[in-house]
Amino acid sequence: MRAIAGSDQLSVVTLPDPEPGSDEVVIDVAAAGVNRADLLQRKGLYPPPPGAVDTLGLEVSGRVSAVGDHVSAWHVGDEVCALLAGGGYAEKVAVPAVQVLPKPAAVDLVSAAALPEVACTVASNVFDVGHLQPGELLLVHGGSSGIGTHAIQLAHAVGARVAVTARNSTKLERCRELGADILIDYTSDDFVEVIRESGGADVVLDIMGAKYLEQNVKALNTGGRLVIIGMQGGVKAELSIGALMTKRASVFGTTLRARPVTGTGSKAEVVETTRRLTWPRIDAGEVSPVIDSTFPLAEAGAAHERLDSGDAIGKVLLTLD
Ligand SMILES: NC(=O)c1ccc[n+]([C@@H]2O[C@H](COP(=O)([O-])OP(=O)(O)OC[C@H]3O[C@@H](n4cnc5c(N)ncnc54)[C@H](OP(=O)(O)O)[C@@H]3O)[C@@H](O)[C@H]2O)c1
Repeated sequence: MRAIAGSDQLSVVTLPDPEPGSDEVVIDVAAAGVNRADLLQRKGLYPPPPGAVDTLGLEVSGRVSAVGDHVSAWHVGDEVCALLAGGGYAEKVAVPAVQVLPKPAAVDLVSAAALPEVACTVASNVFDVGHLQPGELLLVHGGSSGIGTHAIQLAHAVGARVAVTARNSTKLERCRELGADILIDYTSDDFVEVIRESGGADVVLDIMGAKYLEQNVKALNTGGRLVIIGMQGGVKAELSIGALMTKRASVFGTTLRARPVTGTGSKAEVVETTRRLTWPRIDAGEVSPVIDSTFPLAEAGAAHERLDSGDAIGKVLLTLD
């Protein structure tokens, strides 16, 4: 599926079937996750990295239908999900074998499409970069987002306390059900005040960027880690170096899509970390996909509108017959 501009401009087109490269597998797609980045790409604001297909879609679930000559980890018929650089809104997609994860036994094949982006983002940022420890306080901005609903569950499962921000009580109540301990309505409450009263945040997972930079640093504990993964509130802001130094705090920024396939800091490393850290928690039923809604691929425009509405809680998926 290709796209330009408005959600009504999304159209299904016929393309040649992908062939696996020697280190790739082809997946017959059961479902694809819809991500905020897809909405930006649709509008021309988030071009695919060099070499990636320009079809939308950063994650899928499905069955392996072909494997490259050098691939031994996967076989035709395996039920899997995968992190992609693009191309997921399709019947078939070719993906490097190192970006594939097994479908967890406790999760059905369609729902598994809700996992790769959120699981890889949370494992790499909250744990690999942010080093969240049991007993520490994690602040998650946008607790009801795809990323947020996963972060709450995983942090709760490892014994951390979790604070979330969201826009209304319906969203906050869902966050509480998922394991959040501290609920902050960002439309009426000052999150810095609430977090300070709760002892300060050891890790902040931020999606707002510039808009929250100063407040996030204020909310951090001594030795705190601010991990910025989104720029929904802008890209440029002033940072008080003094506040950072006094707290011996750190600020990190990361992306997933632009990482190389293999090597240091690669998607392969992130996928491996995620499989080791998160997959046992999913198998144990401590972490589950949180799915807001599913749409057929042909209704991808409506799926984009649902995510854009601000009403979604968790992931929006596209399904293929
Ligand atoms: N860097 C990376 O590797 C990476 C990977 C994946 C995703 N991301 C980023 O992570 C973010 C979430 O992604 P997603 O796919 O889960 O998106 P999503 O489900 O569409 O969520 C967007 C979230 O933004 C929240 N939000 C908007 N204004 C806010 C504010 N002022 N304060 C707090 N929260 C606010 C919304 O909460 P309310 O509805 O309550 O307002 C909503 O939960 C996006 O910015 C995305 O680009 C980054």
